[in-house]
Amino acid sequence: MSQASVLKFPDFVLRRISKPVQHIGRSERHLIELLIKTMEHQPGGIGIAAPQIGVLRRIAIVDVSPKAADARRLILINPEIVKMEEETVNREGCMSLPDYTANVRRAARILVRWDNYDMKRCEYEAKGLEARCIQHEVDHLNGMLFVDRVASLKRDVFRRKRYL
Ligand code: NI
Repeated sequence: MSQASVLKFPDFVLRRISKPVQHIGRSERHLIELLIKTMEHQPGGIGIAAPQIGVLRRIAIVDVSPKAADARRLILINPEIVKMEEETVNREGCMSLPDYTANVRRAARILVRWDNYDMKRCEYEAKGLEARCIQHEVDHLNGMLFVDRVASLKRDVFRRKRYL
């Protein structure tokens, strides 16, 4: 299986709300594999959400282990952020907006709940980069992009340098 192509802003699919997953079967497992492959294909990729490859289902992958040694891969099915604490501003990027980064305000600590493969609810307290990444991916499931959350498009959005 190779990776999928990633939809880029301003593709309207990125603006739609994804549908909840009722059960995990063959096609859902395939979608999860494809998301992981697509995320890993991107240098520095630490998260991806199904709508980014054109599938409007509430599934996202977060794996900050390249940047935080104690982290593990989270396969978030129907994720929901149930608690948010403390605000921080940090630089963020997105595979769907590859030419930009931005300063985005997010909760520093969150409690996230999601379904596992058996559709049992799990919960986990995340902080720092991992908490930021989870919030970013849940936004994708709700049709939101990080540029929607900046205080000022002029001051807080930056064009990436291009390296040849
Ligand atoms: Ni993104």
